[in-house]
Amino acid sequence: RATTAQSSAVDLRNIVTGEKLDLSDVLPEGKDTPGVKQFLSTGHNPYITDASCLKKGEQTFLAACSGCHGHIGEGKIGPGLADNYWTYPQNTTDAGLFSTVFGGANGQMGPHNESLTIDDMLQVTAWVRHLYTGPVKDAEWLNDDQKKKYTPYKLGETFPDDPPGMCAKSGK
Ligand code: HEM
Ligand code: CA
Repeated sequence: RATTAQSSAVDLRNIVTGEKLDLSDVLPEGKDTPGVKQFLSTGHNPYITDASCLKKGEQTFLAACSGCHGHIGEGKIGPGLADNYWTYPQNTTDAGLFSTVFGGANGQMGPHNESLTIDDMLQVTAWVRHLYTGPVKDAEWLNDDQKKKYTPYKLGETFPDDPPGMCAKSGK
């Protein structure tokens, strides 16, 4: 259990109740990586275009999310996450999507602050963005440059084993 509260310039709130997320109630690891610091100060998830993070996010998604949301986010007992319909429109922002994973939503969608580190949550939400197959105009989480480079996820796409990036084992 962490002893010091994380401070965040971004207003992170439970997607259902609107209560402020308690960022001190997190796993001790992965709470102050460069990626986490960047996210907490800007509200933008720096991992969404980083292959080294997407690779890890995919593994976490398959272990912690796909049982309910389907292996490519196509929807199962939980809603589809790869299309442009959101029950909670806040999920079109990185801060909103992170908050949903951190604090949970209704019913089976429980909080993940005791099972995933903050860094894991950024990785797995980056992977959720990567699985998107909807129209680029609705991908509000992408900046103009990222929108130009957007291609919808294709099943069977693979990444090299340890690509360089913010989440690489080598730290490069
Ligand atoms: C809702 C992501 C794990 C069941 C959602 C939403 C997101 C999400 C973004 C809201 C979608 C929207 O606004 O349309 C994730 C991620 C997970 C995860 C990234 C893994 C880290 C799970 C698991 C279950 C589950 C393990 C089942 C035990 C549900 C259900 C909803 C939901 C039933 C609908 C809740 C509501 O409408 O309030 N999930 N989820 N999810 N998820 Fe998950
Ligand atoms: Ca959806």
